Amino acid sequence: MTARSTNPFKPSAGSTPPLLIGRQPVIESIADSFDEGPGAPGRLTVFTGARGVGKTVMLNEVEEVANSRGWLTINETATTGLVARIEEHLTHLAEAREPRPRGRITGITLPLRLGAVSTEVTPELAVDVRRRLNSLLDELKRSGSGLLLTIDEVHAAARSELREVTTITQHLIREDREFALVMAGLPSAVSSLLSDDVLTFLRRADKQVLSDVPIDEVHDALSATIIANGRTIDEEAGHQAAEATGGYPFLVQLVGYHVWRSTAASHITLTSARDGITAARRRLGSLVHETALNDLSDVDRTFLMAMSPDPGPSRMRDILKRMGGVAPQYGNVYKNRLIDAGMIGSVAHGKVDYSLPYLRDFLREHGASLGLAPIKKVGNKKK
Ligand SMILES: Nc1ncnc2c1ncn2[C@@H]1O[C@H](COP(=O)(O)OP(=O)(O)O)[C@@H](O)[C@H]1O
Ligand SMILES: [Mg+2]
Repeated sequence: MTARSTNPFKPSAGSTPPLLIGRQPVIESIADSFDEGPGAPGRLTVFTGARGVGKTVMLNEVEEVANSRGWLTINETATTGLVARIEEHLTHLAEAREPRPRGRITGITLPLRLGAVSTEVTPELAVDVRRRLNSLLDELKRSGSGLLLTIDEVHAAARSELREVTTITQHLIREDREFALVMAGLPSAVSSLLSDDVLTFLRRADKQVLSDVPIDEVHDALSATIIANGRTIDEEAGHQAAEATGGYPFLVQLVGYHVWRSTAASHITLTSARDGITAARRRLGSLVHETALNDLSDVDRTFLMAMSPDPGPSRMRDILKRMGGVAPQYGNVYKNRLIDAGMIGSVAHGKVDYSLPYLRDFLREHGASLGLAPIKKVGNKKK
């Protein structure tokens, strides 16, 4: 077996990285809330941040914290049927805890992924879920444990389901139950959720905004992972690889992965590391940029294109001009939409900049082939 066969890096959505960079303080504070008892703030947490920043990974980490304390967990995604699936999980958990399975279900293995259930929530269903949760929590209390519910990819589509889950959670917390709810979603989804009038209770949640991790920690993690897996890397190569990630967690794994596979030798040279970095950046375009752009409206994309001629942060004034002289109010609407979508951020002096690394390069190179008009022809809405 060559060293090449076991690549330790994990460049895919939701996979636990070989080393979790920069998140220890957050994990520790949530771990503390599991120990502190009902009412501790971290027991109601919402992770938010751009695509690929590590939200799903954090949900997995919290799950591990819960399991290490003997808690049960239910992991779900916020799509239609959420409440019905929670009900199924609860049935499943209750049955698994019974000494003997009931006759009716003997011999049937319930699927672990309950993705097929997509029934919409009804009041009866919500009542039933609450009843089941209460009886499970009663039982867990006797053995000194509790229940963690994680909900990933929170977005507007499952609003009525999330309302039910929130209402139930509110009761459980008020009743001092050993229960925790941890959710994750893109900034736009989370901010619209937190501004929902019915969901005011969620504003109490501990909002954890995940952002890029420090480059020096990236450097240490990349080298440590390479060394722990039996190889070495040229010093300059290690620095260039760390720099190339921009501290963006997904790119850390992608660069690590391609740098590792750039050679079969046990020492990674600067030349092969550079090949790896190039390969990683190419993949980033199809894995992250294209997907992110697909989720946006035409005007959102035009706004992003209008930023691309600048070498760094863009002035709003220039963006408006390049969009064909649109009004500032109009530009601001799209600016705010893109901030919420985790695509851009405000920087000093009223300027905006891309949040995703290499998005500028991607738009310059591929904008036209993605159906985005070249910037000078953009927009014909003269004021
Ligand atoms: N703290 C971290 N350190 C190193 N790699 C990370 C970290 N967080 C996430 N990753 C990696 O980044 C990628 C994206 O993580 P994921 O949780 O799927 O992001 P999100 O859910 O925010 O889109 C995965 O390949 C994961 O292994
Ligand atoms: Mg995710």
